Amino acid sequence: MAPSLETVNGARECLRKTIKEKNCQPVLIRLGWHDAGTYSVEADKEHGWPLCGGTTGSIRFKEEMTHGCNAGLSLAYDLVKHVKDEFPEISWADLFQLASAVSIEACGGPFIPLRLGRKDANTKEDCTPDGRLPAAGAPFPDGAPTPAQHLRNTFYRMGLTDKDIVVLSGAHTVGRARPERSGFGKEHTKYTKNGPGSPGGSSWTVEWLKFDNRYFKDIKEQIDEELLVLPTDAAIFEDEGFRPHAEKYAEDQDAFFKDYVQSHLKLSELGAKWEGEPLVLSPSNAA
Ligand code: HEM
Repeated sequence: MAPSLETVNGARECLRKTIKEKNCQPVLIRLGWHDAGTYSVEADKEHGWPLCGGTTGSIRFKEEMTHGCNAGLSLAYDLVKHVKDEFPEISWADLFQLASAVSIEACGGPFIPLRLGRKDANTKEDCTPDGRLPAAGAPFPDGAPTPAQHLRNTFYRMGLTDKDIVVLSGAHTVGRARPERSGFGKEHTKYTKNGPGSPGGSSWTVEWLKFDNRYFKDIKEQIDEELLVLPTDAAIFEDEGFRPHAEKYAEDQDAFFKDYVQSHLKLSELGAKWEGEPLVLSPSNAA
């Protein structure tokens, strides 16, 4: 059964408190994405749920959390565990998506009208194999010759489109890459050496706790060497199919927010199995 609205609003408040205290929005957004981004249309046809991957909550198991691409995310799990203790009716799968959506709002981004009531994967055997999430630079594990091809191979496998790839990459408008986690970024830059949150890493934007369209503007301009551009970020302006979307989002923040909400919702429901009728959050019922 889906959690009650009262429970979800309680959990939202609890998440906001943690976010305010720790400035941990980026890592929570990444946690939700890494639970979702393991989805495979083919595995769904072949094995069904939960081996299809996606928003099943399976990232909480050590077998999946220790995949190389998830370095640093056990910290995010530790940050939301107390919310699950306080609101056990919320599934882990819902909690990871809720933490991400609340984080985006807390950064000034759009409200995401999440649906809640996901069923949890419940054993380590339900974890997906390593290697389903995208790599940021060559050599690509799928043998793709370019970052753009690798992005398409990875996101098409999830059933997503070029537009989804570009707009979702815009989530890098917040957060940082750290050499000790992903191998990307510098130890610190002038924008990260004093925090907020734990210092260090390279950010894509100057105000890296603000959700806006700066990511697209900064990649297009590339005038500040202190800012990060991963090979896969550069691809959204280099590739002919991606570029029109990236140009549009650099020009028009409203268009970015509108499309972001749609694609984020799709991402948040990849592989989801609903327990009964989902609860739909809206700006009028969410507190
Ligand atoms: C397009 C393919 C993508 C690639 C190759 C990629 C790669 C990366 C890498 C290498 C990092 C640095 C991690 C670290 O060192 O801690 C990172 C961070 C991040 N990613 Fe992505 N990512 C992709 C898509 C996405 C998507 C779709 C989202 C969300 C919708 C997202 C959200 C984030 C956030 C918020 C961070 C910052 C985490 C932090 O500051 O702790 N990424 N990503």
